[in-house]
Amino acid sequence: MTILSGTLVSSACKQSSKFSCNQFFSKYSRRPTLAVILVGEDGASQTYVKNKQKACNDVGIEHKDFFLPSITSEEELLKIIDSLNNDDNVDGILVQLPLPKQIDENKVINAIDPKKDVDGFHPQNIGKLLLGQPTMVACTPQGVLELLDYYDISAEGKNVCIVGRSNIVGKPLAALLMQKDRNATVTVCNSKTTNLKEHTKNADILISCVGKVGFITSDMVKDNAVVIDVGITRVKDETKKSGFSVKGDVDFDSVKDKCFAITPVPGGVGPMTIIMLMQNTIKAAFLREEEKA
Ligand code: GUN
Repeated sequence: MTILSGTLVSSACKQSSKFSCNQFFSKYSRRPTLAVILVGEDGASQTYVKNKQKACNDVGIEHKDFFLPSITSEEELLKIIDSLNNDDNVDGILVQLPLPKQIDENKVINAIDPKKDVDGFHPQNIGKLLLGQPTMVACTPQGVLELLDYYDISAEGKNVCIVGRSNIVGKPLAALLMQKDRNATVTVCNSKTTNLKEHTKNADILISCVGKVGFITSDMVKDNAVVIDVGITRVKDETKKSGFSVKGDVDFDSVKDKCFAITPVPGGVGPMTIIMLMQNTIKAAFLREEEKA
């Protein structure tokens, strides 16, 4: 059994991101710049944002941070996005999700300039992705593909089962794996799927993105499957200084002996998502400058 280490692969990606960032600086005398917006005080979101800021610092990306109170109105947030869209020094805009309930997430995503949409959530970017056109690709799906590529795991001709059909992970990941360059046979399941186990058991590559701790048990996994755990859930843990530990969707201890390869949580898909965000920001910066030339 192979552990697919996102910690290892993301640190290799970090080196190449640092290099591209320096190339950008030599050419344009400025650093790629990411605007990060967090609305509210959700603990998990605060941790994600902190990790994104740290990665920016490690790679050499400037970050502009906006920490807004949870009572922020939709109008106020849209105003900030508008000013960032028009700020020539800003290459990428990331609005951490979820947003407080008074703010319509779709309106916010639609308001971001697609060229600065480093999350790859804008309908224009999702549309291009579905059509197989070059675009900004959502970070977690891209991170999963990079992890598979690094370990030479091809999806071609394989049965891939994705459990979870979110706009952020399940849907874009299914689209990417279906493309002509990947050629996977993709099944996308959801919480209403009848006989879920029949689908997961048939998967050569099983990807879970439901956010339920221990949801995938060993009886649901085919022998020698590749198992990718996208779930990141915080659970109370008094033995930890932080007061919580992070768990995945997969019951790692029972599944690991059965499969060919598996991602751990933490240290699997999570660090890949963050480094893909860095890559998207650098890509957006280059594309914007090249367009000006
Ligand atoms: N919340 C959970 N995952 C993500 C992500 O990839 N991007 C943003 N903006 N918010 C998230």
